[in-house]
Amino acid sequence: LGRNIIHRATADSTQRIAHQAARNNAAHGTVIVADEQTAGKGRMGRQWNSAKHKGIWMSIILRPAITPAAAPQLTLLTATVLADVISEVTIAKPTIKWPNDLLINHKKTAGILTEMQAEQDRIQYIIVGIGMNVNHTADEFPVSVKNKATSVKSETANEQPIVPLIQQLLHDFEQAYDDFIEHGFSNIKNKWESYAYRIGDTIRIQTNHTEIEAVFTGVAEDGALLIHTDNGETQKVYSGEIEWFHG
Ligand code: BTN
Repeated sequence: LGRNIIHRATADSTQRIAHQAARNNAAHGTVIVADEQTAGKGRMGRQWNSAKHKGIWMSIILRPAITPAAAPQLTLLTATVLADVISEVTIAKPTIKWPNDLLINHKKTAGILTEMQAEQDRIQYIIVGIGMNVNHTADEFPVSVKNKATSVKSETANEQPIVPLIQQLLHDFEQAYDDFIEHGFSNIKNKWESYAYRIGDTIRIQTNHTEIEAVFTGVAEDGALLIHTDNGETQKVYSGEIEWFHG
């Protein structure tokens, strides 16, 4: 992993470049990284602010021999890797908000965009896109995200050089990935839950068709959110936006 690194000073989106490279048979473990992105993509069609040298903007091409149904496990794996890197390198205490937001002091520091290309039941490739806000000061975020977004520097008062952070990330990612391929998901699941934001709290979750109030108890093997409802049932939720009750 990371033996083939494509670096761009400026890219529209490392995610787009990674898709193109993967379609042209780029090897498993190819990494695309940019100093800045002019059209960074977030989840659900959102924009991702990627200012020059302020963070890690990278996409990793993976060709795992797993089923498409197991692909969400890779997103959870990536979230634990980002949490590990932040805990190893900084004094911050990161948490993971399901499905894949990294928070420091309740504010978003990093996000993951996992995209899969599969045919029938075979994965062609998976692109794991990682955006981590590292050296922004609070006033460098656009007004629209100011209250929700933060960076490592804003929360720890320390600037972090980006390149060693990327090296640490690739090192930890490779370890976690090898462990996952060899031993399966259970180590990641435990780690994910140990970083989970407000496990055991009552949440309100907005899915496509309903709104459910329940206790957040963990994640399932398939990456679903596990909740415990009032009538004593455990349910899985695959997509939606979570709202926490305060207090
Ligand atoms: C999110 O919405 O939380 C996911 C954000 C993912 C952003 C990263 S930055 C590198 C890669 N290239 C992109 O255009 N997006 C991802």
